[in-house]
Amino acid sequence: MRVFVTGASGWIGSAVVPELLDAGHQVVGLARSDAAAAALTAAGVEVQRGTIDDLDSLRNAAAASDGVIHLAFKHDIAFSGDFQGAADADRRAIETFGDALAGSDRPFVIASGLFGLAQDRASTEQDGHGPVTSTGVAEARRANAELTLSLASRGVRSSIVRLAPTVHGEGDHGFMATLVGNAREKGASGYLGDGANRWPAVHRLDAARLFRLALEQAPAGSTLHGVGEEGVPIRAVAEVIGQRLGIPVVPVAPEQAGEYFTWLAGFIGLDIPASNALTRELLGWEPKQPGLLEDLAAHYG
Ligand SMILES: NC(=O)c1ccc[n+]([C@@H]2O[C@H](COP(=O)([O-])OP(=O)(O)OC[C@H]3O[C@@H](n4cnc5c(N)ncnc54)[C@H](OP(=O)(O)O)[C@@H]3O)[C@@H](O)[C@H]2O)c1
Repeated sequence: MRVFVTGASGWIGSAVVPELLDAGHQVVGLARSDAAAAALTAAGVEVQRGTIDDLDSLRNAAAASDGVIHLAFKHDIAFSGDFQGAADADRRAIETFGDALAGSDRPFVIASGLFGLAQDRASTEQDGHGPVTSTGVAEARRANAELTLSLASRGVRSSIVRLAPTVHGEGDHGFMATLVGNAREKGASGYLGDGANRWPAVHRLDAARLFRLALEQAPAGSTLHGVGEEGVPIRAVAEVIGQRLGIPVVPVAPEQAGEYFTWLAGFIGLDIPASNALTRELLGWEPKQPGLLEDLAAHYG
């Protein structure tokens, strides 16, 4: 297939690209800078210059492709306070792709997240559907995922990959890298409260394979969980980081969370285990890469 990939130069995109090329697909990647364009060219990708706001460019690229994988997200503005602005840009891009692909039965796969789907149990692929009635980071993202799934009724083979917040591996600059950086700066590896709360995790290369399988096989309207491990206790994460950096492991009181964890404070205490059973059954996807704790011990810090 000729596949248009947004975010092809990013952390996950740069693993999705070789996964697609190795499987015999042709990749066209969106690049907003000379650096991204050069990296994509070097990786064997045809470059489409533009940003996620260039809706004509997105429409044309999608129309000229056999499928689209949408990974770009304005993390720069999202993490500096304008998450809604990032989500709005994402929604406009998804609407544009939907219009371009309507009636074609071509695949359209997006990345989404796992926050806020279920309480007191592991979320499944069946959770988190239905009208979005409140605001906030998780709900803004969920609204865009639901919009994507609704495109199935317009003749798009759409699917969403809900990624664990900890997509880990060499070169990570996300949640885990931030936690390690915090620990080094503070001279102590912290966990919130008793640290028993769990986060799901997935290795970047397993996630990349899931995106390819979704593109190739997922039925229209599929919800997939990019989850390799259902839930890793945050205290265990802090312990591995402490061991690797040779620093003490300490509980952080809720009133000190903002100071210690900075932008992670709102997330680090969440208990958000997530199942991958339906995804594995649907696509025959089996995570094969090292788990989070093994990866942390080997590559972080
Ligand atoms: N990493 C995780 O742990 C994780 C967890 C859950 C969900 N996700 C989601 O998975 C997707 C990919 O994440 P990632 O970790 O690969 O993110 P990333 O490393 O920050 O990459 C983001 C990509 O989006 C591109 N981009 C950003 N703003 C753009 C704009 N205005 N126009 C065009 N392209 C733009 C970036 O281009 P440049 O190369 O030019 O910067 C880059 O290619 C995102 O939707 C993310 O929210 C990630």
